[in-house]
Amino acid sequence: MAQVHVTTREGEVRTLEAEGGSPLMEVLRDASTGVEGTCGGMCSCGTCHVYVVDEWVARLPERSEDEAMMLEALEDFVELRPGSRLACQIVLDDDTSGITVEIAPAA
Ligand code: FES
Repeated sequence: MAQVHVTTREGEVRTLEAEGGSPLMEVLRDASTGVEGTCGGMCSCGTCHVYVVDEWVARLPERSEDEAMMLEALEDFVELRPGSRLACQIVLDDDTSGITVEIAPAA
């Protein structure tokens, strides 16, 4: 099992548990945290934008080119931070268990 700590747009702090290997987007979406995941994880909708807390930013793999381009496309509508990531591109496993994120505002 893997854990994620999440702060919703309403400020609610929750800890969720998921099977190892689950995409973070699916865990957040299925727990009704405000993440929609409209494209199903294809890196093309931006509705899974989260802010990863500072201490976790360097512990994640770099953004892929597709992820970076999707985030850039959001920039006119929503604040981007160094910890901005698409949750569909993060897998919850032993390396990422305990990650802490905040759901970004809807674009
Ligand atoms: S689910 Fe669409 S970009 Fe992540």
